[in-house]
Amino acid sequence: MAFRIAKTLGGAAAIALMASSAFAAEKIEVLHWWTSGGEAKALNVLKQMLEKQGITWEDMPVAGGGGEQAMTVLRARVTAGNPPTAVQLLGFDITDWAKQGQLTSLDEVANKEGWGKVIPAALQNFSKYDGHWIAAPVNVHSTNWVWANKAVFDKLGLKQPETWDDLIAALDKMKAAGITPIAQGGQPWQEATLWEAVLLSTGGPDFYKKAMIDLDKDALGSDTMKTVFDRVAKLRTYVDDNFSGRDWNLATAMVIEGKAGVQFMGDWAKGEFLGAGKKPGDDFMCFRFPGTQGTVTFNADQFVMFKGKGSTAPQMTLASDIESPEFQVAFNTVKGSVPARTDVSGEKFDACGQKGIKDLAEAAASNHLLGSMAHGYAQPASIKNAMYDVITAHFNGEYDSATAVKELVSAVEDAK
Ligand code: BGC
Repeated sequence: MAFRIAKTLGGAAAIALMASSAFAAEKIEVLHWWTSGGEAKALNVLKQMLEKQGITWEDMPVAGGGGEQAMTVLRARVTAGNPPTAVQLLGFDITDWAKQGQLTSLDEVANKEGWGKVIPAALQNFSKYDGHWIAAPVNVHSTNWVWANKAVFDKLGLKQPETWDDLIAALDKMKAAGITPIAQGGQPWQEATLWEAVLLSTGGPDFYKKAMIDLDKDALGSDTMKTVFDRVAKLRTYVDDNFSGRDWNLATAMVIEGKAGVQFMGDWAKGEFLGAGKKPGDDFMCFRFPGTQGTVTFNADQFVMFKGKGSTAPQMTLASDIESPEFQVAFNTVKGSVPARTDVSGEKFDACGQKGIKDLAEAAASNHLLGSMAHGYAQPASIKNAMYDVITAHFNGEYDSATAVKELVSAVEDAK
């Protein structure tokens, strides 16, 4: 309530109100994993918006791209009976917590504001549970992107690769020139991000759907899947020796600094380029992983509100702020993602952002908007983690491709 009053009051009156104890009592603890330079800048947009409304922001950052460590901390907090007020979550993790009855319904805000009309159906599948809104989608990210250093491409006379063969030819040229071709981080989710782009490129969207979403045994055990692993093994030969344990944003920095040619990463990488003062088209290039144009493997950050002892008013304010068109523009132009609403103008977005918005609309219209396995939008955590294990073991040379295919089939079967 108080925030509505503050919104309509002038500065001095609002400040006086905020100083009152009732107002100061409104606070929100937010658990998230946005700790890189670009992520922190984007998060600040939300933090400032809330603080302007008199809500105190208690930050609970848990470092670790992809959110694995954040999920462990969340589980511990809930088990201890002390959940954070608001939490960044992805895909099936949202559904899992909703099933356990832990999440505050956002129906009050969502229905009043007509979220159902502007949020894409693919997202609503996760933002709603049992007919009720339980998550506020912040953005749409996607994973099948390539981030390239423009000066490296220009110096070597390289063009944007359109096919697998083009890509290999470009990587060979970089290698010959003494540049690390691929900036890769060494964590299971990063290997899975690269792997799913190769899978989509190799098998196409129908194969992706069959293998990653339907878990079709024939697709998982197919010759196409063997080619996927063979190709990933080939890409591995273009990665430097020090990749193990490297964070994703440090890999992005290698491309920003021209130490590496490309990174295969979701569009949160763009936030790092922008944070370093780099411009798309001039300093860096963004394009879809060769052979995947037309399909978007998405992951959308969503905020859920945990049931707790306090008032739900600040939670509703946060949810409402997140879905406001102003926030969608202010946040996503910094974060690298595109709006979670279909009615937001792309005017203020840079060339990569506008491409992201266009690709998303086209993919949604042609049924080629598919959930990212690596980021929890294709399968629940148990199956995702089973896949991670195989992908990482293969990436680290423990399995050859034929063994990896067999292991994948049995790991998925066991995890079901
Ligand atoms: C999230 C992004 C985040 C990235 C790296 C992804 O799972 O969706 O918002 O920037 O992980 O931390």
